[in-house]
Amino acid sequence: MVVIKVLVTGAAGQIAYSLLYSIANGDVFGKDQPISLVLLDIKPMMSVLEGVFMELQDCSLPLLHEIIPTDNVEVAFKDIDAALLVGAMPRRDGMERKDLLKANVKIFENQGAALNMYAKKTVKVLVVGNPANTNCLIAMKSAPTIPPQNFSCLTRLDQNRATSQIAVRLGLSCSAVKNVTIWGNHSSTQYPDTTHANVCNNDGNVTVYKAVKDDEWLKGGFVQMVQQRGAAVIKARKLSSAMSAAKAICDHVRDWWHGTSEGHWVSMGVISDGNNYGVPEGLIYSFPVTIKDQKWTVVKGLSIDTFSRERMDESAKELVEERDMALEFLSKSA
Ligand code: NAD
Ligand code: LMR
Repeated sequence: MVVIKVLVTGAAGQIAYSLLYSIANGDVFGKDQPISLVLLDIKPMMSVLEGVFMELQDCSLPLLHEIIPTDNVEVAFKDIDAALLVGAMPRRDGMERKDLLKANVKIFENQGAALNMYAKKTVKVLVVGNPANTNCLIAMKSAPTIPPQNFSCLTRLDQNRATSQIAVRLGLSCSAVKNVTIWGNHSSTQYPDTTHANVCNNDGNVTVYKAVKDDEWLKGGFVQMVQQRGAAVIKARKLSSAMSAAKAICDHVRDWWHGTSEGHWVSMGVISDGNNYGVPEGLIYSFPVTIKDQKWTVVKGLSIDTFSRERMDESAKELVEERDMALEFLSKSA
């Protein structure tokens, strides 16, 4: 089988430490798919990255054809098939949202340009570094020769969180819950929607609303808990989620590579074409999608009630504001 080249940025960071083994072990691209793994981080992190490199070697993994640790963008993006853009500027004490966005616009503009210049035109890009939707938008805009459909951002962690909370509430396995949707931004305005979700329990296949029998919770406490889960993990761990983020990255990329199963959809932040669910054209917005032949399609025709509409619009409004601010920084750097 032909070796594929996979880039992970922020490779010396904590998400990468939970992620790299799964990729190198074949859990994402397939158990028969040899991989050349490229690890990018910034210069001051090169000695940490050397340690990660040594550990990957020491795992003695048969699918790991080659490991390339680097701080050189050209080396990192050259001929890659997949880019998992995890690295980003973290929010520091006293930093405004605007400052964070400004620093990250620069990073994702540079990485978008590198994708444009050095990567395969078929490359699939997943942006994880926050603010993930807007960073993804900037990378996409900076890579005009790569199809916009090849860019996505991570909202699978939110989907997994929501799915798990429903399962815990019902005393079922997560695998019994399907088609929870995350709409919008990977932020506290995201909308975890169970209107069209189902569970498989003793009564057969029933809607989540019917199984849970607590509409107030599904529209209140549940939504808030998923929206605030990232902050709750940071408060408890003093670090942002890493193990669960890495698992969600694996789920996202595996499904993009191999497709979704019949009757199931997943949530991904992808480009809005303006024709689905009243979401403005050009935003990177989380939609329910199905995937076949490595191409995602937004699930059509879901009914949207007033409650959902308001939340979906609120998240779109936040994304429009982020986009406008980011584009202003981008135009100033041009
Ligand atoms: P971390 O600080 O442990 O690691 C980030 C790494 O990125 C560091 O090693 C840093 O040196 C590196 N980095 C910074 N700028 C870089 C650049 N220009 N090129 C390459 N590497 C660079 O952070 P982490 O816990 O691994 O989280 C990474 C990002 O993922 C953060 O932005 C975090 O907020 C985000 N995150 C997103 C989700 C999601 O669901 N979308 C979930 C969890 C975390
Ligand atoms: C998460 O959802 O866990 C992270 O995006 C939180 C963060 O700000 O890093």
